[in-house]
Amino acid sequence: MLSDKAITEIRALQARYPVPRSALGPALYVAQAEYGWLPPAALAEVGALFGLDAAEVGEFASFYHMYNVHREPGDITIEVCDNVPCMLRGAGKLTRGLEEQLGIPFGQTTPDGKFTLGHVECLGACATAPMFMATEKKTGRIRYFEELETPEKIAEALALLASGHGFDSTERWPAGPFRHGGRPDTNFLLANIDKPDSHRLATYLAAGGYQTARAVMGAPSEKEEEKRKKEDLPSSIFLLPSGVIDVMKAANVRGRGGAGFSAGVKWSFIPAGVYPRYLVVNADESEPGTFKDRLIMEYDPHQLLEGILLTCYAIEAEHAFIYVRGEYYFAAERLEGAIAEAEAAGILGNNVLGTGKRLKVVVHRGAGAYECGEETAQLTSLEGYRGHPRLKPPFPAVSGLYGKPTIVNNVETIANVPHVLAHGADWYRQWGTPNSTGFRIYGISGQVKKPGLYELPHGVTLRELIYDWAGGLTEDAEGLKAVIPGGLSMQLLDESQLDVPMDFDSIGQAGSSLGAAAVIVIGKNQSMVEIARRTIAFYREESCGKCTPCREGTGWLEHILERVERGEGRTDDIALMLYIADMIAGKSFCPFSYAAVWGLQSNLARFRPEFESAIAAAAAPPVIPIRPIYRPDPGAPSGVTEPALPLEEQYNVPPVKR
Ligand code: FES
Repeated sequence: MLSDKAITEIRALQARYPVPRSALGPALYVAQAEYGWLPPAALAEVGALFGLDAAEVGEFASFYHMYNVHREPGDITIEVCDNVPCMLRGAGKLTRGLEEQLGIPFGQTTPDGKFTLGHVECLGACATAPMFMATEKKTGRIRYFEELETPEKIAEALALLASGHGFDSTERWPAGPFRHGGRPDTNFLLANIDKPDSHRLATYLAAGGYQTARAVMGAPSEKEEEKRKKEDLPSSIFLLPSGVIDVMKAANVRGRGGAGFSAGVKWSFIPAGVYPRYLVVNADESEPGTFKDRLIMEYDPHQLLEGILLTCYAIEAEHAFIYVRGEYYFAAERLEGAIAEAEAAGILGNNVLGTGKRLKVVVHRGAGAYECGEETAQLTSLEGYRGHPRLKPPFPAVSGLYGKPTIVNNVETIANVPHVLAHGADWYRQWGTPNSTGFRIYGISGQVKKPGLYELPHGVTLRELIYDWAGGLTEDAEGLKAVIPGGLSMQLLDESQLDVPMDFDSIGQAGSSLGAAAVIVIGKNQSMVEIARRTIAFYREESCGKCTPCREGTGWLEHILERVERGEGRTDDIALMLYIADMIAGKSFCPFSYAAVWGLQSNLARFRPEFESAIAAAAAPPVIPIRPIYRPDPGAPSGVTEPALPLEEQYNVPPVKR
């Protein structure tokens, strides 16, 4: 039975949303912490609080990876990310190290019930790989353990967890912002994060924080307020909401989540006279290779809040949601803390900065579903349903959350707003190109010496990013073979294209997309067949299942790539994969279908001989059985093999339909 405390907590969650069903996901987290998992009884109890049948709650819960509806895990669940960027930085060794030190294979729980070992997709820690995420069953608290390159570090992390103090903090281990840098003249979004207590309101105010919001909204400072009161003066408004939209349009700040649409133009699509309106900040940063929004939310959350404040002022919204991926537990905690501080200071709430305007900001944690990064799927999820996309039009700006006008923008996009309004459109346009204005945060992961975040203008070349900022390739890479410029979804480029400028047009002309400017560097020592297979495995696992081409096609592609990698490829496999990819691309509700196959299509276009060689060698029997989760340790003695667990058991997912 749920405790009274849990029921009270769920009731409070329901009150945070205009429609109580939106609290279904957060309520399941509460129930899961009480029960340790979500057995049918828990689903029924939660359902009763929402007026829903247990089956309906189960249908919702089973969509999301972070709800345990099948079995109760150990006290602490350890999940290793082995997606491509982590794979390139030693996820396989970490996996083997954990198996050895815990004495259990993947998918199992230690005999004392203390640890369960599993795998997970990209966690937004690509630059600090190898890493794992730990989840405490009794509280639901989550902590990242990163940079686990040696057996000693793995042992240290496990010892901390075993001591019972592993979740005293949820800040990443080791603590503090990970590597970042950039040019001094474009150091804005990451300017504050190294300051002590960078997440606190006092730190943000000391750096001039919320001054732009005050100026734009005509909110007087405390001193001015005193003066105005004495002199009986009305407050003055520096910019009308339409003026804010005009500045954003003139600056041409393009969305940082992947699509690259102009934020100001998007805001201007809201139909006149229709209320309420909503802002949804897309913080579901799940594209493998992206980890920029995480740093902003964890170490400078007030910067994002000021952007939200200004955006809501521009679009005349009184309610904003930050849809943060469920794994970003620490970021969600930091955001909640910042909102509480801002409300206490009168910056948010019923009298925003003394202007008489209202703004409520709610942090909504997702629960592990890549598809929810797509804006319409995110809105469906936020309404308390499976994260399935909707057909467009209507676009969310016209009919979004609860059928009302809604703007969905990425965290970095919104964080740009205070800077653009403080300095003006011309200031912003001094950097970049006419069609790709300003600066942005580039993430670099994979086989480079200094992976991290770099704040630089649009138009910097891949060569500069990789060699000048990220220190060039690691020794093991044996030189550069391929680059993915915008996140795992985007098309691969090869070493002949390093002088392509990182702007929307140039990368497009080179045959790829700028996406989220998440650069993944692949060395010559890598098998492109393996890269293709691991990429497709991600999309097979993350397909929301709504559209047949993605749901079925990705599974078939993975099946074919597995046999090619095993040395059992067939002569027509390349043609077959190209045919299936073509049957997927563009044949679904949302852009997932393109994302799922661009990597494979470009890989086959640029590195086809590798696939042909693998297929030509098919007559030879495989020497080492391939484990799909991670790469066999090249240092293992010849002939040492892994126990052949069924694929479904290794992935801890329902069987793939083949
Ligand atoms: Fe592993 Fe991003 S955290 S790939």
